[in-house]
Amino acid sequence: MKTAITELFGIEHPIIQGGMHYVGFAELAAAVSNAGGLGLITGLTQKTPELLAKEIARCRDMTDKPFGVNLTFLPSFTAPPYPEYIAAIKEGGVKAVETAGRSPEEYMPALKAAGIKVIHKCTSVRHSLKAEKIGCDAVSVDGFECGGHPGEDDIPNMILLPRAADELRIPFVASGGMADARSLVAALSMGAAGMNMGTRFVATKEAPVHDNVKQALVKATELDTVLVMRALRNTERVLKNKGVKELIEIEREKGASLKIEDILDQVAGVYPKVMLEGDMDAGAWSCGMVVGLINDIPTVKELIDRIMEGAERIIRQRLTGFLDGVSTGSAPARAIA
Ligand SMILES: Cc1cc2nc3c(=O)[nH]c(=O)nc-3n(C[C@H](O)[C@H](O)[C@H](O)COP(=O)(O)O)c2cc1C
Repeated sequence: MKTAITELFGIEHPIIQGGMHYVGFAELAAAVSNAGGLGLITGLTQKTPELLAKEIARCRDMTDKPFGVNLTFLPSFTAPPYPEYIAAIKEGGVKAVETAGRSPEEYMPALKAAGIKVIHKCTSVRHSLKAEKIGCDAVSVDGFECGGHPGEDDIPNMILLPRAADELRIPFVASGGMADARSLVAALSMGAAGMNMGTRFVATKEAPVHDNVKQALVKATELDTVLVMRALRNTERVLKNKGVKELIEIEREKGASLKIEDILDQVAGVYPKVMLEGDMDAGAWSCGMVVGLINDIPTVKELIDRIMEGAERIIRQRLTGFLDGVSTGSAPARAIA
């Protein structure tokens, strides 16, 4: 399949693996790129720019296909040395960066001077337009369903994607709630040139996380995520667990006076405990509503091949069938997932 996104990043399939803290290591990024998508190493999971340089080199050993790096600008107590992270990306020869969180405006000159294509993750049309204005090459439009930080507008992708299509001139991918062939075809129908998946890629053989995490995703339903940190205007969609229950109780007690210090035990240092040690009750970690569509743990290649083959079948058989007046019933839509 050829779209503006496959052209922009020089990839075979219009599927991106979003940056994921303590998940986006070289193993997953390389697996996604080898399967024809765009894999991303999560920059800040590497504690220093030197470690990121090593992770990029490790990924380069595992794939000769294009891969990228995610750079997240979220509120933190001490800002990471972003210019040095960008230098590591540039020196590692990486040509794609996914930015997220705050606007990447300050860093655009350095990224562009290095010939890097920038895709900025946005949860609103206005932020997407700002990204276009500051010279981003593409946008990842992240709906309210998404795992991680959906912003504060709460607009789901059925509305957000066509709204983005109406206003943007640069290409965009649909992010949030994407899991299978049906997601890809729906995203393309609404104007996107591909899709970005987070949660779905965690439940794959190559994702270098504890098996408890993958089993928890297979077990969970679409009812098992919850929004936290709303009072801090840093809303995050996470998987419910014991730590998250405590967090919600604290949020209820403190109301609008909640401070990040009140919930440090439930939000700080949680990722290594969950992803590396498999402690599923440790606290808040990002997970999308799409978890309700995850029922297995395939290899990345099996997942991507299944999506691309299924998308072709939906387009050629189900959709064209409607136009040709051939009733296909509902079977293909179910079977293709
Ligand atoms: C475990 C996990 C960790 C994540 N960490 C980050 C991160 O560090 N930076 C970032 O920009 N997005 C992060 N995300 C968001 C994903 O990149 C992606 O935008 C999101 O998962 C899309 O929604 P989906 O989960 O419904 O596919 C994370 C998501 C998950 C599930």
